[in-house]
Amino acid sequence: MNFHIMTLFPEMVMNGLSESITGRAMKNGFINVDTVNIRDFAQNKYGHVDDYTYGGGAGMLMQAEPVYLAYQSILERIKAGEEAFDKNENSMNDNRKPRVIYMTPQGTPFKQSMAVEYSKEEDIIILCGHYEGIDERVLEMIVTDNVSIGDFVLTGGELPAMMIVDAVSRLVPGVLGGEDSAVYESFYDGLLEYPQYTRPEVFMGKAVPEVLLSGHHKNIEKWRYEQSLKRTKERRPDLYEKYINNKNK
Ligand code: ADE
Repeated sequence: MNFHIMTLFPEMVMNGLSESITGRAMKNGFINVDTVNIRDFAQNKYGHVDDYTYGGGAGMLMQAEPVYLAYQSILERIKAGEEAFDKNENSMNDNRKPRVIYMTPQGTPFKQSMAVEYSKEEDIIILCGHYEGIDERVLEMIVTDNVSIGDFVLTGGELPAMMIVDAVSRLVPGVLGGEDSAVYESFYDGLLEYPQYTRPEVFMGKAVPEVLLSGHHKNIEKWRYEQSLKRTKERRPDLYEKYINNKNK
């Protein structure tokens, strides 16, 4: 799977993703992260890609043209890559544009189900904004998904983009070692994960719940399910409600 990230800070993105599991996934070729520096497409000799907003107001806005040209360069890269690989029906034609995710606090709140959907794509383009945002015209032209990582405002889209790449990558087959570690986890079936323990059996007087030492798989499964329900009800009553409603349908 290929992630193409349009950003003014490619090193920030690459430094963050080169560590740990995403870094290993890149080295092993399960994912490919390709950054495009929007500044390389600046239309002036100073490398400026921002300007004042029409109508006044605080702050600067990223201009449409450098963003559009950066996007075109990614489309060309994707096409070139596909042609090198495969000349037949799977090749991208002008009708099949890749998903372009714009990271914005005005977007749809990111969820695990969206990560699952994105993990089925071959190429994903992520657009990171800066300053007060991006000229609306280019957003209308290229963006397919507006996505937020929460109801707060960050200085740019790079951290959100890294979060998307991380959440999606771990669903790509081969990225996580244990085949089912991406399956039995928080949000898999709409519940939070049960508590887990490792050695030692007693830590500062606190013992591991006995059922987990019993070797009785049915009882362990039941205990874990009950704990998931309890935890979800306490910590995320919104998810709990949804789970119960779905179950009773
Ligand atoms: N850019 C700035 N804040 C953001 C947020 N909360 N989510 C996604 N992109 C952003």
